[in-house]
Amino acid sequence: MFEIFEPVEVATLTLRNRIVRSATWLGLAGRGGEVTDALVSRYEELGAGGAGLVIGEYTFVSREGRHRPGMTGAHEDDRISDLTRWASAIKRGGAAAALQLVHAGGQTRSEWIGDTIPVAPSLAISPQYSETPRELYREEITRILKAFGQAARRAREAGFDAVQIHAAHGFLVNQFLSPLTNLRGDRYGGDLRGRFRFLQEVVVSIQLAAGADFPVLVKLNGSDFLPGGFDLGEACDVAEWLSQRGVAMIEVSGGTPGSGPLKPVRRGVAPGQGEAYFRDQVGAIKRRVACPVALVGGLRSLETLEELLAFGEADLFSLSRPLLCEPDLPRRWQSGDRAPSRCVACNRCFESARSGLGAACGNEEARSRP
Ligand SMILES: Cc1cc2nc3c(=O)[nH]c(=O)nc-3n(C[C@H](O)[C@H](O)[C@H](O)COP(=O)(O)O)c2cc1C
Repeated sequence: MFEIFEPVEVATLTLRNRIVRSATWLGLAGRGGEVTDALVSRYEELGAGGAGLVIGEYTFVSREGRHRPGMTGAHEDDRISDLTRWASAIKRGGAAAALQLVHAGGQTRSEWIGDTIPVAPSLAISPQYSETPRELYREEITRILKAFGQAARRAREAGFDAVQIHAAHGFLVNQFLSPLTNLRGDRYGGDLRGRFRFLQEVVVSIQLAAGADFPVLVKLNGSDFLPGGFDLGEACDVAEWLSQRGVAMIEVSGGTPGSGPLKPVRRGVAPGQGEAYFRDQVGAIKRRVACPVALVGGLRSLETLEELLAFGEADLFSLSRPLLCEPDLPRRWQSGDRAPSRCVACNRCFESARSGLGAACGNEEARSRP
C-alpha cells in the first residue's frame, strides 16, 4: 500500500512525499512585484517544513495580468535573480519548488494595472469582475501566450523545478474555459475545444520556451459552481486533454469569486467537518487521466489524506491555510504526531495578507493550541 510519506514521481521529479504546499499569496512582494527578504524567509520556512513540493504563489506573467498589489512578477528578465533567491530558499529545506504563473484577465482593477482597462476573453458582465473588462485582440492573446512561455523560462533558469499554470479561480485561463465569460466567435471561443485552445497554447508556449522536459502543472477547477458555467463534465474532458499533452500533474480546485459559498477558499472547515470539499471532482477527474492528480481544499487531518490515497481518489494532497497556521505541519505528521491541523478556516489570513504584513494565521486560539 502507498504511504503519504513515501517518495512519489511527478514526471521527471521525485518528491520526498505526497504533501504539496498549494500556491498561497503572502502579500509580501515589493511595489513592482519584486521578491523581498520577508518573502524569501517565509519560503525557507515552508521548504524546511516537510512538504514534498512547495508551489510558489501566483506570479504575474505580464503587467496587465496583475491581480492585486503585493504580488510577485516574473514578467521581465531582470527578475531572474529574484526568482533564484526564491527557488533556492524553498529547495534548501529539501522540498521541490514550483512557481505558479497567472494572468488575472478581467479579475483585477484598473488602478492596479497602470490605469488601463482590465482585459478578458470577452466583454461580459460577471460577479467575478469588479469592472467591465474589454475584449482581448488576437495579437494581445498571442503576446500573453508568449509571456507565459517567457515567465516559465525565467523560472527554470532561476532553479524552479516546475511551473504551475493557474487555470482556476476565475483568472484569465478559467475565463477562456467558461462559456459565461468566453463569448468569442473566433478559434478561442465556441465549443469546449475552442474554449480550451488558450490553455492548450499556454502549455505549448511553456514547453517551447522552457523545454519539453520541464514539468508543467495545472491548477484546474473541477467546476466553477455557476449555472451555465464550466462544469465537472467539461473539467474531465479538459483534464484528459491536458494529460494527453504531457502535463505533469493536475491540482483540482473549484469555484470563482462569483461562486458565493462554493468559492475556492471555503470557511467553516474543521477536522471531520467539510474536509476535502472537492473530493467528488478530484475522483471523477482522476478516473480520466494518466498523470498524477492533487486534491486541494479543506484537508485538515492525516486520516483523510490516508483514506483518499487508499481509495485511489487522489495521488497528492495540497494544503494552503494549514501551512499558514503551521508551516512544519508535514514534518510534525511525519514524526508521528497525528493531531490534525489547527486551521479553523476563519479566513483571517487574507486580512493580514492585505495589510502588507504578510499572510499569517489570524486566529490566536488556533495558533497557540498545543
Ligand atoms: C491567503 C491565501 C492566498 C491564496 N493565494 C493563492 C494563490 O496565489 N494561488 C492559488 O492558486 N490559490 C491561492 N489560494 C487558495 C489556496 O491555494 C487553496 O486552493 C485554498 O485555500 C483551499 O485550500 P486550504 O483549505 O488548504 O486552505 C490562497 C488562499 C489563501 C487563504
